Amino acid sequence: MQQEFHFNYRKYPSLEALSEQDQLLVAKAIEAMDRAYAPYSKFRVGASVLMESGLIILGNNQENIAYPSGLCAERVALFYAGANHANETIRKICIVATGDLMPKGALLSPCGSCRQVMLESESRQQNQIEVLLVQQSDEIYVLDSVQNLLPFGFSK
Ligand code: THU
Repeated sequence: MQQEFHFNYRKYPSLEALSEQDQLLVAKAIEAMDRAYAPYSKFRVGASVLMESGLIILGNNQENIAYPSGLCAERVALFYAGANHANETIRKICIVATGDLMPKGALLSPCGSCRQVMLESESRQQNQIEVLLVQQSDEIYVLDSVQNLLPFGFSK
């Protein structure tokens, strides 16, 4: 029998439409994006992770001449959080990217491997992580949970 999967997300027209706290999170992700090491793809990605204490952890993509050895921005940030703040709940992750790899107007959204890692960050803390996706148009898509990005995800 036919089944459907739905999820809701919020769309904000610009940064100014976000709360001050979210604007700061986006600004931090942009700061991280600007420091990305992406000499091969020239596609810069920044991720900012808001912890329950208010601490913001930053990550950006770190490429390598042996291409598969590099790592995406989201996982750099989340693995840092796991390594250094394992007992603290992650509230939000914000992702921003820029580069010619994606045509203007393309949806900027995390890769499958990052979704899998984001899903485990969420399930291990038993608390939803809000996801903010900053589009090249400056619109921001906000999802309440990583689960929405990975339906039928592999998890416990
Ligand atoms: N990248 C990320 O940092 N996050 C994603 O979710 C997708 C892709 C990086 C990996 C690589 O350095 C560059 O973007 C091009 O794929």
